[in-house]
Amino acid sequence: MVNHSAANAEIETDERIAIRVRNINVVYATPTGRIPAVRNVDLDLPKGSITGIIGESGSGKSTLIMAIMNAVTKPGNIESGSVILNGQGDLLKMSREQQRKIRGKEIGFVFQAAQNSLNPLRRVGQQILDLGRSHDIKDLRGLIRHAKQLLTRLGLDADRVLASYQHELSGGMRQRVGIMFALVLNADVVFLDEATTALDMLSQASVLEIIRELQKEKHLTIALVSHDIGVVADLSERIEIFYAGEIVEEGRTSKILSDPEHPYTRGLIRAIPRISGNIDSAEPLKGSSPDYKTYQQPGCLFYDRCPIRAEGCLKSRPELAQIGREHKVACFRVGVDDRN
Ligand SMILES: Nc1ncnc2c1ncn2[C@@H]1O[C@H](COP(=O)(O)OP(=O)(O)OP(=O)(O)O)[C@@H](O)[C@H]1O
Ligand SMILES: [Mg+2]
Repeated sequence: MVNHSAANAEIETDERIAIRVRNINVVYATPTGRIPAVRNVDLDLPKGSITGIIGESGSGKSTLIMAIMNAVTKPGNIESGSVILNGQGDLLKMSREQQRKIRGKEIGFVFQAAQNSLNPLRRVGQQILDLGRSHDIKDLRGLIRHAKQLLTRLGLDADRVLASYQHELSGGMRQRVGIMFALVLNADVVFLDEATTALDMLSQASVLEIIRELQKEKHLTIALVSHDIGVVADLSERIEIFYAGEIVEEGRTSKILSDPEHPYTRGLIRAIPRISGNIDSAEPLKGSSPDYKTYQQPGCLFYDRCPIRAEGCLKSRPELAQIGREHKVACFRVGVDDRN
């Protein structure tokens, strides 16, 4: 059940924003207790741009994407929030049929488990036809032609892939097939959740390059989810840093990389020599990624791992606050150097 507050009804729409997410809260009810896996998240995906969503394993990235698609399953529950699609209202309030029509056709997606999401009993080509029919596509030949173009572009033997069953494809091939499915109906908005992680480094770079080309050609709005800031940095204009279910820093990629303000963001950057520019001293992030206990902590959730923590940080939760043009940070210690 989604509980819509009165405020949600008054969310401003903006022509430049493809998807406007407001106040999303998702909770998993587990035997150990409730995990607020996504907490008070606001997110704007500007039209025709790539937004990177980054955070360690367990930070809530996939849960957020599932929530935006209204695809959270038990024991998870979307407790509040709205997902405003430009010109079409709140996706979370639409009928199931309306939502089904939008998924795939207007919003393409590769969920993280996409490697296994193909139907094992049907060839890829048949599944493209199934998808086309379920969206009332009349020109099914044209659809297959488009699928072949995409597969070829993604470096696959299109005819062979169309004739294959899931088990005949490698993990990397399945990921590329997943990307084809996300794009084949010409959705304007595309969510890619760890869509290239099964690929080796070189294939990953070439698939990401193709995604960037397609994004430019078709003016797509893309949300690219990864635990690897290196993967996302080259492609994204904007970055959202996720920690324990919350956005802790967001802004233009160039700004985040040159002037990261959250100690967690700084840690993520230092861990990747290619991004930090310091090849000799990759510093792995200290401490363990958030678990059940992290979420129960009062005050700042990064406290245990924070090199610049102060007593006051445990008193309340830092809110995401504007600190510069298009740059927001949730930290009480902005400006404090963590190198001392
Ligand atoms: N089905 C579930 N049941 C209970 N808890 C869950 C479930 N799915 C996710 N969680 C919890 O919610 C939190 C966020 O998980 P989520 O999968 O969204 O993170 P993520 O950032 O996508 O991680 P990864 O990088 O590993 O994909 C984690 O603490 C996780 O244990
Ligand atoms: Mg995930």
